[in-house]
Amino acid sequence: METGVVLLRWAQYAASFVLMGGALFAIYALPASGPASAGTLEWPRRLLGWVAAMLGLASIAGLLLQTAVVAGSPGAAFDPSILVSVLTEMAMGAASLVRALAAALAFVLLLAVRPGRGVWVGAASLGAVATASMAWMGHGAATEGAAGGLHLLADIVHLAAAAVWIGALAFFVILAGDARLSENRRAAFHAALAGFSGLGSGVVAALAASGLVNGWFLVGPSGWTGLVETSYGRLLILKLVLFAAMVALAAANRFRLTPALRAALTDPAEAGAAIDALRRSLLLEFGAGLAVLGLAAWLGRLAPITAQ
Ligand code: HEM
Repeated sequence: METGVVLLRWAQYAASFVLMGGALFAIYALPASGPASAGTLEWPRRLLGWVAAMLGLASIAGLLLQTAVVAGSPGAAFDPSILVSVLTEMAMGAASLVRALAAALAFVLLLAVRPGRGVWVGAASLGAVATASMAWMGHGAATEGAAGGLHLLADIVHLAAAAVWIGALAFFVILAGDARLSENRRAAFHAALAGFSGLGSGVVAALAASGLVNGWFLVGPSGWTGLVETSYGRLLILKLVLFAAMVALAAANRFRLTPALRAALTDPAEAGAAIDALRRSLLLEFGAGLAVLGLAAWLGRLAPITAQ
């Protein structure tokens, strides 16, 4: 059952991040109107709708499975009195319910309302609620006393920054696939890449700063040996290695591959090669990001070094 809990946590991270970060991307990186706008493209609405549906289902399934784990019996997941006490007495229960409701609202919004700025703002806000609610699913809300507020805040910043990065990557991967279709799409892809570069640096800084605060609470100032001696520490190191790989790929995109695309924008053959190189690099970065989320999902279920 534990593997199922970790997989469902992973699905909830991925879906809430793409919902929040993808809807934000539609606002700040895509043109407000014209053939490359999110409203005209159609796939952003479909993608975010599917993601909202997956988030709702994974939140409910995660709640049921974690109830079964807490109660020590699979049948407990369908026992109304146990479920009610998990929902009313455990932060994890209430957070799962809030996330499922946010996902359901986002699904209806994306399905029923004509795509436009209002829909993206609504979907991003509901995605932000779902993303922040993940802080109550693991160690983020576990620190007691006055320092607990700081840990929770750092965790929410960490989650939000990760959502902006992962959501943008999901959209970039699809835009790169589309960029070969026409000169308009190619120009829109390049404009989005160039526009993201400043924001990207801020996201990396916010992740590193909030990650260090998280590490202070969970590894502790004297827990360094635990980084190699415990499974928690080794997974955290692996997460940092993948983070470094993501930063290296992002730097290559920004300083080498995006300028190469800019130089080739008017020549379809050269632009094609530049787009393919960017697409490979973005896919790798997105894959590394999803692996980081898998590790975070696992870390949240292990005893942190300060508790060992
Ligand atoms: C310098 C870089 C980073 C540091 C030092 C760092 C550190 C940490 C630590 C210590 C935790 C707590 C794990 C636990 O629950 O026990 C954490 C959680 C997490 N990290 Fe990072 N991290 C970094 C970068 C990233 C990146 C690049 C991503 C994704 C793009 C990411 C996504 C997450 C997520 C989703 C969580 C779970 C938060 C929660 O559920 O409350 N982190 N990180």
